Amino acid sequence: MGAIAQVITAAFPKEGAIIVDLVNDLIKDPTAQPVVSLVATLQGDTGEEIVGYILFSNAWLEGGDRTESIVMLAPLCVHPTHQKQGIGGQLIEDAIQRLAASEVDLAFLLGYPSYYPRHGFSPAGKQGFIPTYPVPEKDADAWMVRELKPGAAESLSGKVICADALNEPQHWQE
Ligand SMILES: CC(C)(COP(=O)(O)OP(=O)(O)OC[C@H]1O[C@@H](n2cnc3c(N)ncnc32)[C@H](O)[C@@H]1OP(=O)(O)O)[C@@H](O)C(=O)NCCC(=O)NCCS
Repeated sequence: MGAIAQVITAAFPKEGAIIVDLVNDLIKDPTAQPVVSLVATLQGDTGEEIVGYILFSNAWLEGGDRTESIVMLAPLCVHPTHQKQGIGGQLIEDAIQRLAASEVDLAFLLGYPSYYPRHGFSPAGKQGFIPTYPVPEKDADAWMVRELKPGAAESLSGKVICADALNEPQHWQE
């Protein structure tokens, strides 16, 4: 976890420590399983270097029978010295491929509305999905979903409940 924590702290200068704790907690949290946890590496002077990290954890629909398969993305980060080289995008696509192969229906996130649409995410509220904690109206488009199984977004709707470790208001601020 040391190298991943370093990337997280560098990428999130303000809330790095909180996000490091979140990742540690999610990895141990039974309600978050299964997770997809991937690092991006580059060959550096001293060998392979971790420069990016992505984590998807399990989620579900409130009041549902949990037959649906839903995941939540948090966090995604790339070390500032390696940003804008396509690493973040590659982490998203690699993780999504694995999730789709595991028959996941939908992937959700709260994130930059100008970044994630290029990776197939679109506003989730308009499609009938309510975030675990309310998102202010001005940030409504930051609550996004990507359909992994065709038709899943149309056949499902409701409030998305995330894993216990992520189920804290402090993790739901844009
Ligand atoms: C967001 C982040 C993961 C993107 O990773 P990356 O490897 O730099 O992304 P890519 O190289 O795949 O894509 C780069 C593009 O994303 C854009 N981008 C990066 N951060 C952005 C942001 N906050 N809002 C909108 N666009 C953003 C870049 O401007 C660039 O756009 P361009 O291709 O038009 O030039 C990375 O910038 C990061 O770690 N940021 C700090 C942590 C963070 O905010 N994580 C996301 C929380 S939702």
